[in-house]
Amino acid sequence: MQSPAVAIGPIGVFDSGIGGLSVLAALRQELPDEQFVYIGDAGHAPYGERDTAHVLARSQLLADYLCTSHQAKALVLACNTATAAAVASLRELYPELPIVGIEPALKPAAAQTASGVVAVMATRSTLASDKFLALLAAQPPSVRFLLQACDGLAAAIEQADRHAIESLSEGYVQALRQNTDGGAQIDTVVLGCTHYALITEVLSRLWGPRVGLLEAGQPVARRTRQVLKAAGLLRPAIGATQQDVAAKPLVCLSTGDPTLLDQALQDWHIGEPALRASALLLP
Ligand code: DGL
Repeated sequence: MQSPAVAIGPIGVFDSGIGGLSVLAALRQELPDEQFVYIGDAGHAPYGERDTAHVLARSQLLADYLCTSHQAKALVLACNTATAAAVASLRELYPELPIVGIEPALKPAAAQTASGVVAVMATRSTLASDKFLALLAAQPPSVRFLLQACDGLAAAIEQADRHAIESLSEGYVQALRQNTDGGAQIDTVVLGCTHYALITEVLSRLWGPRVGLLEAGQPVARRTRQVLKAAGLLRPAIGATQQDVAAKPLVCLSTGDPTLLDQALQDWHIGEPALRASALLLP
């Protein structure tokens, strides 16, 4: 049983930038009584095109900062790339701390596909990771997974560069479609990077109405609830309404340009309208 002081600490959430906001939104819906500190490590993004050692070092630094400066009672890695690179080592470094990661939704996709052809859009680093390859190997052999490393797409989303988002997305969707060689068609697409969940409008339009897009924000939020509950770390419910959730104070920090995070917070209606991200200076 944890002390009440520990139970009232915030949940630390981080990503390379704004992508993790897609997870934060689900977390705030699922856990309306909890407080969150969010870090977008935009000064070191994109993670997906950097080497694993760099992503591991950044993840350790951010985890250490969230635990020591904010007394985080749990961590959520709202980034597939950081999860693949660092979740195992963070769990070793912090054996007492509940740590929840995110991974591409291959298993739900395999369960859902009728055509048996699933596309996976993710960062280069996630797709090359041992963690992802093990996940892929565990899927039923009857399902064909087509993998697409979407270089530049997370960075375009980070910069809110509409033109680059459109043209890169179009190119990657086309490349995946060509991969089916006139055989069975893709009917399910796994969004294996949290940034891509912020552009579902663009991707849905490109893929068309018959293709389902899967992201993992809600499952991660549900898993976080389970893990906190099992550890006795859930805050007691105060009967928050949906409005309270939107208004609950939230700490948002960016190691890059905080105005990009501000814009994303507003676009996605996360936190109170006056919420502003602060610059975080870390080595
Ligand atoms: N949002 C991150 C993910 O889920 C990565 C984006 C990046 O390349 O920085 O993988």
